[in-house]
Amino acid sequence: MNILRDPEPDAVLVTGGAGFIGCNLAHRLAASGRRVLILDNLSRAGVERNLAWLQATHGDRIDAVVADLRDRAVVDACVARAQAIFHLAAQVAVTTSLDDPAADFAVNAGGTLNLLEAIRARGDRPPLVFTSTNKVYGKLPGIRFVTHGERYVPHDARLAARGVTEAQPLNFVSPYGCSKGAADQYVLDYARTFGLPATVFRMSCIYGPHQFGTEDQGWVAHFLKRVLAGDPITLYGDGRQVRDVLYVDDLVDALLLAAERITALQGDAVNIGGGPENATSLHELLDRLPRLIGRKPVVRYAEWRPGDQPWYVSDTGLCTTRIGWRPRVGIDEGLGRLARWLGATAPAPAAHRVAS
Ligand SMILES: NC(=O)c1ccc[n+]([C@@H]2O[C@H](COP(=O)([O-])OP(=O)(O)OC[C@H]3O[C@@H](n4cnc5c(N)ncnc54)[C@H](O)[C@@H]3O)[C@@H](O)[C@H]2O)c1
Repeated sequence: MNILRDPEPDAVLVTGGAGFIGCNLAHRLAASGRRVLILDNLSRAGVERNLAWLQATHGDRIDAVVADLRDRAVVDACVARAQAIFHLAAQVAVTTSLDDPAADFAVNAGGTLNLLEAIRARGDRPPLVFTSTNKVYGKLPGIRFVTHGERYVPHDARLAARGVTEAQPLNFVSPYGCSKGAADQYVLDYARTFGLPATVFRMSCIYGPHQFGTEDQGWVAHFLKRVLAGDPITLYGDGRQVRDVLYVDDLVDALLLAAERITALQGDAVNIGGGPENATSLHELLDRLPRLIGRKPVVRYAEWRPGDQPWYVSDTGLCTTRIGWRPRVGIDEGLGRLARWLGATAPAPAAHRVAS
């Protein structure tokens, strides 16, 4: 570091810190006394409200740079201040990536490379945790699925019981899958080739407060919001798709542990989700709602969407072994907390598409 030019690291950098996961992470960091530097271009509809809430709650512990990850000079300046880095900013919707693959690539792959290059240029390298996605495993080719009641399950009973490990071959599907997958591989390679203290979280479906879910991304919050408003829900496919949902507080625990114990994860990707005990099909999740929030969903059906996996459940064993993490919040408890937040929040913005 050039001490005549660069500032001393004084904050934890959260790219995408105004977004759903970033807001929850920034809140936890600031509540524990850390100074948080947020880099976010506020392109996701609604997230400006998260930023306003963070600043009102934590005052000058939250420092926001409203700018684009594609701007290398801004990224350099933010990285120069970072004691640790959580890289969450992204174009997050498969649907948007189909509309504009080039913009999706520029943000997710190009933006991540900007960040890696800025870290590489620093003498003392802060730990980096990158949020990748289970979409890097595609539709899990080679695995046969069968229906079992209201859900799909793998024919292989051991896989059904334990979930997908990191040994699953990569299989990028959709421009979003490719751009996140490229970023995932660049982060791992910068750890390998340049020695960056970096790890990759391949995350399943995360849900919780501060999520401005839409049809395109954030389906749990989207479903609850629609049902609370008495609006119908469109299920793409037959509703038997299975996901292992993870409550955001549990994810924040894992992110913080990973940064603290980065040497245990350096250069490796880990699968993160609710695991088999928090696996649910879309139908099964909707079936819980009358009991939990006193409303019955109205459902319509449409064609499957590209890249949609019939089943995905994470085996989180590697993360448990390496950093001692496991999820704690069950589905009923998490849905209840999200419903209470949605009930206490003004209607979400009209925009239903995620801008890049
Ligand atoms: N939520 C999930 O279920 C889930 C699952 C797997 C992976 N992920 C990954 O986790 C990360 C966070 O997801 P989230 O659910 O909080 O999404 P989000 O959309 O709520 O947050 C992303 C944030 O990034 C910002 N952003 C977008 N493009 C930007 C750019 N070019 N420059 C600067 N900021 C930009 C947005 O304004 C937004 O605040 C993403 O990388 C996403 O791919 C999320």
